[in-house]
Amino acid sequence: MDEIIIRGGRVLRGTVDVSGAKNAALPILFASILTPELCHLENVPKVADCRTARHLLERIGVELVELGRAGSTLVLRTPTVTSHDAPYELVKTMRASFLAMGPLLTRFGYARVATPGGCAIGTRPVNLHLDGFAAMGAEIHQRSGYVEARAPSRGESPARLRGARIPLPFPSVGATENLMLAASMAQGTTVIENAALEPEVVDLAAVVASMGASVRGAGTSVIEVDGRDELDGFHHRVIPDRIEAGTFLIAAIMTGGDVVVRGARRSHLGGLLEVLEAAGARLEYGDDQIRVRRGHDGIRPVEVRTAPFPGFPTDLQAQTMALACLANGRSTVTEAIFENRFMHVPELHRLGADIVVDGSTARIEGVRRLEGAEVMATDLRASVSLVLAALAARNSTRLQRIYHLDRGYEALEAKLVGLGADVERIRGPAATFVRRPRAAAAAGGGGESGDAPSTMVARASQLGDVS
Ligand code: UD1
Repeated sequence: MDEIIIRGGRVLRGTVDVSGAKNAALPILFASILTPELCHLENVPKVADCRTARHLLERIGVELVELGRAGSTLVLRTPTVTSHDAPYELVKTMRASFLAMGPLLTRFGYARVATPGGCAIGTRPVNLHLDGFAAMGAEIHQRSGYVEARAPSRGESPARLRGARIPLPFPSVGATENLMLAASMAQGTTVIENAALEPEVVDLAAVVASMGASVRGAGTSVIEVDGRDELDGFHHRVIPDRIEAGTFLIAAIMTGGDVVVRGARRSHLGGLLEVLEAAGARLEYGDDQIRVRRGHDGIRPVEVRTAPFPGFPTDLQAQTMALACLANGRSTVTEAIFENRFMHVPELHRLGADIVVDGSTARIEGVRRLEGAEVMATDLRASVSLVLAALAARNSTRLQRIYHLDRGYEALEAKLVGLGADVERIRGPAATFVRRPRAAAAAGGGGESGDAPSTMVARASQLGDVS
């Protein structure tokens, strides 16, 4: 398996470009199932999760072509499907595969999708998705690890979901997206109450609206969708990845650097920016970019509690905990979205952190410095928190199981090297060293993760999914 070696202590300086948001790209890729027309999607990040989504779409029968810089623009077309199935081997690799259910069910009247099961950060059920489909008239059966859903048919007319009022007990991102996709071709109007407000939901809503469904209220807690019998294709550019942007902002502060993060949108990062300001970071806001420097009096301790958007994102919790490890005092971090999202704590301990976990709250006593060590990635965001800690640590860190990183970060090493970090990937199992020349890295894109083979997906699938 590939590993990353990080020689810490380099100050990050320069400009870095954020890739397209994986969590926005995934539901939009599945939206292409809704129409026989051409769908153009730009700024698709070259990450393992998007490759898994493509793999699933191709299995279903979606025709797919890459344009431009390999993989960043995809053209998709679904005249019909050859399968209504999302098999377990793909769903367990990536939970977001469950988002195939809404489009398959609403356009073709039937879908069979594996239940995702547990994952590294908690049980993560899909009951809210299924209750919503049931409210739209679907008959749902769970057997042999699969959910089968069938739209109601009336006499001769084709099976069709019907619009419904769906109050969500929790503003689940995935359920909001899956139900919005299903509602786009349902008969009548669907009202999703207590909907998720995340920017990725708003991006999907823009696509569904451009396909011809009427969507009102995206970005508020009540979303209304008027379904249509047939939908048009779309041409869309995925929003920048706010989690990647936040990760680079934190990396710059932890190394005492001075970095401009291009693609960092203030309106998407509110919860994080408040915390970074409380930590004393100096932030300058530009047009779709943020410049960040550490404050004059070091890193101040922070209090963080994760919450649905616009609160503090759970996907930046682990990275912020790494930052708190270097604060001059005691911080607290409370995880309120997922029940088991502190898997990075024992690994941060190995780097010299002082963290005590009490239920869903971690108390972090800042230390003067972290020390490099061998550590293991456990999930996508946990693994990048170890990268951040290692960048700021003395000596070298060897990070194993980095297929977790490859699920959601495009060309991470190349981007960090472009900012002056000393990072290299060791390709397994032959352990050949592939050091990127700085010039090539600064040019961005390129091979490090761009041609990550499908075996990467297979490896991830052996250990189950994360976010
Ligand atoms: C999405 C993101 C993930 C992020 C999460 C929260 C994608 C591909 N993934 O995941 O990176 O961490 O939002 O911002 O966009 N829940 C239920 N029943 C359900 C659905 C969810 O109980 O049917 C619970 C979950 O167990 C969890 C909470 O609701 O405790 C939030 O989950 P949700 O917002 O659905 O997250 P995902 O869409 O899975």
